[in-house]
Amino acid sequence: MTILDPTWTALLYLVAAVCFILALKGLSSPKHARRGNLVGALGALVALVTVFASSRLENIPWILGAIVVGAAIAAPVARRVKMTQMPQLVAMFNGVGGGAAALVALLELPNASDGWLRLAIAFTLLVGAVSFAGSAITFAKLQELMTTRPVVFPGLPVVMGVVLVAAVGAGAAVVMSGSAGIAVVLLGVGLVAGVLLVLPVGGADVPIVISLLNAFTGLAVAASGLVLGNVLLVVAGTLVGASGTILTRLMAAAMGRSVAGIMFGAFRGGSTAGSTTVSERPVRSSSAEDVAVLLGYAQRVIIVPGYGLAVAQGQHTAAELAQALEARGVAVEFAIHPVAGRMPGHMNVLLAEANVPYESLKEMSEVNGDFKQADVALVVGANDVVNPAAKTTPGSPIYGMPILEAGDARQVVFLKRSMRPGFAGIENELLYEPQTTLLFGDAKDSLAKVLTAVKGL
Ligand code: TAP
Repeated sequence: MTILDPTWTALLYLVAAVCFILALKGLSSPKHARRGNLVGALGALVALVTVFASSRLENIPWILGAIVVGAAIAAPVARRVKMTQMPQLVAMFNGVGGGAAALVALLELPNASDGWLRLAIAFTLLVGAVSFAGSAITFAKLQELMTTRPVVFPGLPVVMGVVLVAAVGAGAAVVMSGSAGIAVVLLGVGLVAGVLLVLPVGGADVPIVISLLNAFTGLAVAASGLVLGNVLLVVAGTLVGASGTILTRLMAAAMGRSVAGIMFGAFRGGSTAGSTTVSERPVRSSSAEDVAVLLGYAQRVIIVPGYGLAVAQGQHTAAELAQALEARGVAVEFAIHPVAGRMPGHMNVLLAEANVPYESLKEMSEVNGDFKQADVALVVGANDVVNPAAKTTPGSPIYGMPILEAGDARQVVFLKRSMRPGFAGIENELLYEPQTTLLFGDAKDSLAKVLTAVKGL
């Protein structure tokens, strides 16, 4: 079989790299996101075909077999995944990417005669393993296969210190000796470090950690590009590393957190407080008809959507309710918290799907001052994003996170099914405030009942 000329290979890699950059550009706006995604996939296809055409590959049936098995697993999973489970999917794909980079580096070690190459290999092994194991823990937390609360134990900082020293020692030994045995030890140390790094992170901060691990995977892939002498891997890995870092910083800023505070806060005992037990205190509950009267005769209503709205798939009913209220002359806005739901932009996507006009969606900074003038804050399946503990309870897992000031409204109505807490696993004092009423039930059902009652006013 003829092998592609190196100039053509370089050109095709350039085309793929440009596709990746255009994909990122497209993904930065909802309007062009779909096209951006397709351009990125096209870039990956160009890269894949170029690899086959430009190198004298051995074991082609095995490689094709692995591609078929991988695609057969990933495609149905990606098609079937619910929007609310998207972060888990991202965590899983991200972890697998880091793990693959680490395995490639391990296999390349016998061919690495140069100390710099072995340094790149040690880096890929460690960072790839951290990303794989850390992502597996974030997956387990998001899927609620384990507690979403910070997991800490006495002596954790010491254990972490020992692991760090072991990582540096094993990494140096790999660089100097090129020993495959020590490389496997380094891989193991990386896996332990990944687990220990993510266990102490509280549920509400997990999305930020996913983004950080995404950046780690990018760096591991870029380093594996150096190991393999593949420019495109270096470019693609660097893009992922850079975009992951930017997203991490943006999300941390939105949550009023520093990245170091998120990763190491629990080590200091900072974010372990809070309680998952639901207290028995009385709350004021109400009927759909009463809520309809509150809303229908209000002048200004602010709807706060959250994860529960997405679970209930109540976005269309919420949009209809907003329209019915507006038809009665009520001013209605939707207040969007940057981490409401389970992925960045979750509420924007959800409400756009229900054709809620873009002008009705208000960012947190824009809308927070308006709650004081609102007659009703209608909190639909949201909890952590309106929890005053973020301001009042130092040591709470969400302390310091900016919240939507729903409590400032004259009346607050929560639509939720029970007194269970939100993702961060902590009680919400706002549920017990005198101006708060609860309408228990599935968000979509409750919205439908309220809508019918509003129409009958
Ligand atoms: P949460 O604090 O998780 O609260 C969701 C509320 O919805 C719960 O109180 C739950 O109470 C209710 N609920 C669930 N299913 C429902 C249904 N079918 N009908 C009615 N209510 C339902 O949500 P939030 O306020 O949107 O905050 C998001 C949280 O997730 C934050 O802690 C954030 O850090 C974290 N997180 C965010 C992301 C991103 S990037 N957005 C990713 C992962 C995690 P009941 O069970 O009583 O109904």
